This record gives sequence, structure tokens and C-alpha cells, in this order.
Amino acid sequence: MNILITGANGQLGNHMRLLESELQHRCFFTDVEELDITRREEVFNFVLHNDVQLIINCAAYTNVDKAEDEEEVADRINNDAVRYLADVMKAVGGRLIHVSTDYVFGGGQHNRPCLEDLPACPTGAYGRTKLRGEQAIAEVGCRHVIIRTGWLYSEYGKNFVKTMLKVLSERPVCKVVFDQIGTPTYAGDLARAICSIVNSDGLGSIDGIFNFSDEGVCSWYDFAVEIARQACITGCEVLPCHSDEFPSKVVRPSYSVLDKTKIKETFGLTIPHWTVSLKRCLAGIKNGVE
Ligand SMILES: NC(=O)c1ccc[n+]([C@@H]2O[C@H](COP(=O)([O-])OP(=O)(O)OC[C@H]3O[C@@H](n4cnc5c(N)ncnc54)[C@H](OP(=O)(O)O)[C@@H]3O)[C@@H](O)[C@H]2O)c1
Repeated sequence: MNILITGANGQLGNHMRLLESELQHRCFFTDVEELDITRREEVFNFVLHNDVQLIINCAAYTNVDKAEDEEEVADRINNDAVRYLADVMKAVGGRLIHVSTDYVFGGGQHNRPCLEDLPACPTGAYGRTKLRGEQAIAEVGCRHVIIRTGWLYSEYGKNFVKTMLKVLSERPVCKVVFDQIGTPTYAGDLARAICSIVNSDGLGSIDGIFNFSDEGVCSWYDFAVEIARQACITGCEVLPCHSDEFPSKVVRPSYSVLDKTKIKETFGLTIPHWTVSLKRCLAGIKNGVE
């Protein structure tokens, strides 16, 4: 089987590259320079020319704050382009593995881990565009797996871990919000889960939405404290604060812990605790992986 991996220069895409040898199939890794997924004709040409039967879509517009000012741009990538990927997989009888977000739940007052069928309630442009992308796939009706994840970080690109490492080593004090609760997810763990799904159920018959994050629950404050502890940075005092101390156009989910029972039981996954995966990521950063 031939697999197209889009957005391959991003956090998740880079981790998919690292696992290429574990995918027992021929892989085409592309990012916007090689294949701009907002160009429908080019998407169709690429898939038909290379006989692609499975697309793993790691491409997205992921700047949550900027999306507020350019929802149309975000929508072209997170919604229109996703529809094109679904259209082409429908046309060739293939399958789309697509990644979505816990931000589809921004507006709910949840205090229990979110199940896949919890009604979506995004509060910002990013969450709205990602939800429309999910809906586009369902409308097209190609075979698909949609994986919702949250708080993604890695050695690659910009993310909370890399920002905190810089802040913690430059400032004597830093404040981090303790009123947003979720689970950090190492991109390497999500990539591994996707590989397991492909290898166990390549073009299989399982369709639907699945949650994925690492195990455990924390606030961004707890995450920052653990980064400092594992990186042995002692010169910065990390203090908890409320979200309203950092005014933002976007209301972020106050609680978006994902219930992963479905993906674990369906695909037989074992998922590491976020503190264990953080250690792997920090080791990678220390070794200059970027
Ligand atoms: N990051 C998070 O915290 C988070 C949380 C929950 C869910 N997710 C979801 O997880 C998935 C992977 O996220 P990530 O953090 O790995 O994203 P990322 O690092 O931002 O990578 C996305 C990649 O897609 C590329 N891209 C953008 N527009 C494209 C286009 N038109 N055609 C082809 N490629 C395009 C980007 O290129 P440029 O950099 O040049 O734009 C980038 O290389 C996304 O679906 C995201 O929505 C992420």
C-alpha cells in the first residue's frame, strides 16, 4: 500500500518520518512546498499518480491566536483542504487518517474526561475550523479515522516545552496558568499510535472519531513545574496564576482531558504517562534533535 503523509515538516509529521521503517508500506512525505493540500487538483494528481490508498493528514493551521484574525485562511487548511483529502480517498476507495483537537470542546464546563460523542462546542476560530474539517470528512463519507488530541509537544517546531525551557533559564520568576486542565501529548506517542492503527488495520473497516493523548492529567502550571524538575532548572520560581492574567482573544478550554478508552480498546494501544514521555522529549532536545 502507498501512504501519503502530509504536513511532514511539523511536529507530528517529523515523528511520522522517524517511524517510517515501522510502517510496512511505501511512504510519501510531503509538506506545503511539495504538496499544498489547499490545491484540490494537485491533491488529486498526486494521489492518482502515486497510487496512494491511505492519507495520514498531519498538515494543519495550528496558530490558535492568529486564527482569530484569519479564520478564512485557517478554514482553507483545516476544513476545505481536509474535504479534498476526503474526496480523493472516497474516489479511490482509500482511507483518511486525520488529526483533530481537544479545542472542539472549548465552551463546555466539563469536569470528567471528554468522550468522543460529547457535543462539540468550540469557542475560537481554530476549534471551529477543525470541527468543520471533521464534519467535512463525515459528509464526504470516505473511510476514515479522526484522532482528536491535545497539548502536543515535541523536539520540533514551537511548543510549550521549548518555550518553557527558554523562559525557565532566563527569568527568576514565571507565572503559568493552573485553571486549564488537560494532558500533554508527546508527538512521538501519537505517531506511534497512528503506526499501530495502520499496521493492525491498514485499510480496515473501523471508522470514526477516537481520542488520543498521553496518560495522566495536569494543569499547564504542573506541566511547567515538571519541565523545570526534569531539566534540573532551579533558578526560576514557577507560580500558578489564573488565565485572566494573560488576556487573549481566544477562550481556551478550562478542562479538556480526553477519555482514551475507545482507542485503547479498539486498537490495543498502551500509552505512556506524560511525565515518562516528557523525559524522552527532553533527552531528544538535549541531544540537539530539532
Ligand atoms: N500543536 C498542538 O498543540 C495540537 C493540539 C491538538 C491537536 N493538534 C493537531 O495535531 C495535528 C498536528 O499538529 P502539529 O503540532 O504537528 O502541527 P504543526 O507542527 O503546525 O505542523 C503542521 C504542518 O502542516 C504544514 N501545512 C500548513 N499548511 C499546509 C498546506 N496548505 N499544505 C500542506 N502542509 C501545510 C505546516 O507548514 P507551515 O509550518 O509552513 O505552515 C506544518 O509543517 C494538527 O492537525 C493539529 O491541528 C495540534
